[in-house]
Amino acid sequence: MNQELKNKTEKYIMNVYSRFPISFVKGEGVYLVDMDGKSYLDFFCGISITSLGHSHPRICSVIERQSKELLLTSNYFYNHLQVELAEYLIQKTFSGKCFFTNSGTESNETAFKLCRSYGQQKKNGASRFFSLKRSFHGRTTASVCLTGQEKIHKGFGNLLDGHTYLDPDETKVLEDELKKNGDQYCGFFIELIQGEGGLYPLDREYVQRVKELCEKHKILLVVDEVQTGIGRTGNLFCFEHYGITPDIMTLAKALGSGVPIGAMIAQENCCDFLATGQHGTSFGGNYLSCITALETFKVIEEENLLANVRSVSKYFFERLRITQEKFSFIKDLRGIGFHIGIELDRPARKLVEECLSRGLVLNVAGENTIRIMPPLILTKEQAEEGIKILEDSLSSF
Ligand SMILES: Cc1ncc(COP(=O)(O)O)c(C=O)c1O
Repeated sequence: MNQELKNKTEKYIMNVYSRFPISFVKGEGVYLVDMDGKSYLDFFCGISITSLGHSHPRICSVIERQSKELLLTSNYFYNHLQVELAEYLIQKTFSGKCFFTNSGTESNETAFKLCRSYGQQKKNGASRFFSLKRSFHGRTTASVCLTGQEKIHKGFGNLLDGHTYLDPDETKVLEDELKKNGDQYCGFFIELIQGEGGLYPLDREYVQRVKELCEKHKILLVVDEVQTGIGRTGNLFCFEHYGITPDIMTLAKALGSGVPIGAMIAQENCCDFLATGQHGTSFGGNYLSCITALETFKVIEEENLLANVRSVSKYFFERLRITQEKFSFIKDLRGIGFHIGIELDRPARKLVEECLSRGLVLNVAGENTIRIMPPLILTKEQAEEGIKILEDSLSSF
C-alpha cells in the first residue's frame, strides 16, 4: 500500500472511517485488483452495491452512451427515463408513485417526511415513529433517529424525541404501546434483514403481525430495502419472502450498480401527501442514474440472476454448515440468498483482515458477524474459491 496515499488521506479526508490498508484500482466481474497488482475475490460489493460485478459490459456501455447524450436537466423538466424506471418499479412492487433520490439515507428521509405529512393531514398530527433496536437506516438526521443503535446517536445532543425503539421479533411492548398511544404514531420503519446490526433476518410471523397492527392503527409500514433490494435475497425485493406489502419501500445501493441512485416507492394510500414544493432534489432521478438502474434490471432478468442467487445460495449454506462444524467458534449461520452472516463467539475484524491478506474481500456486521454479500453473478466455483479462503483464514484465526 502506497504510504503517500495513506498520509494524504489522513491529511485531506475527514477521519470518519476505519479503513483497511488497501486501495483498489481495477475491478472485473467478481474480482478486484489493488494498486500492487494483487487480485481479490469480492464478497462485499462495496456494501451490497456493485451487484452485477465490476465493469459489467452492459453497464459500461449505457454509461458511455448516456454520458454523450444527456446527463441531467433537473426536476423542473419532464424526464422519460425517470418515468420508465418508475413504471418498472411500480409493476414489480405495488401500485403507487416513486420519488428518486441519490442514496439510501435520502430515500429514508423522504419516507420520514412523507409519514410525518400523512400524520399531519390524516391522523390528527400523529408524528411518532416505531423502529427496531439493532436497525440501521442511514446517517442523515432523520435516519440517525430512526436507527435503533445508541452508538449511532451518540454525540449529537438530543435528537430522539418521538422515537420508540422496539426489540425485534417481540410484539408485547408494541401492542401495549399501541393500546395507549397508537393515535400518536405515523410510521414504522423496518429492515427485514437487519444488515449493519449483525445480519438478523426478522421472523416472518412477527413481520406479518406488525403489518396487521400497522393497518389496524393506520400507521405507515416503511420497509427499508436499501441493502436487501434488487435481487440480493434471490427475489427482486425481500418483502416478497415475507408475504406482506409495505406501504412505503426505500431503495438505493444496488439500484444503480455503482452509479448513485435511490428511490422511495409509496402506495396509493399515502403517495400524495407531499405537495409541490414540500420536497425535492437536484441530482435525484437524473438521466445517467435512471438509465443505469433500468439496465441493471434488464441484466438481472436476461441473465437469470435471481435463479442464480437461489441456487448458489443453497450451495453456500450447505457448504458453510460444514465449515461451521469444523470451527467451534462459529456460533451461528443465517441469512437469505446472497445476504449471509456468520456469527463468531468473538470480534470478527481480525478474521476479515486475515481474509483480505489471502485475497477475499468481505466485512463485519455488528461486532462478531462476518457478512458475505457477493455479486449476483457469482458461480458455484467462485463461491467455493471464497469459502476455501475463508476456511484457511479461520484455521489461522
Ligand atoms: C438498511 C440500510 N438503510 C439505509 C442505509 C443508508 O444508505 P446510504 O449509505 O446510501 O445513505 C444503509 C447503508 O448501509 C442500509 O444498510
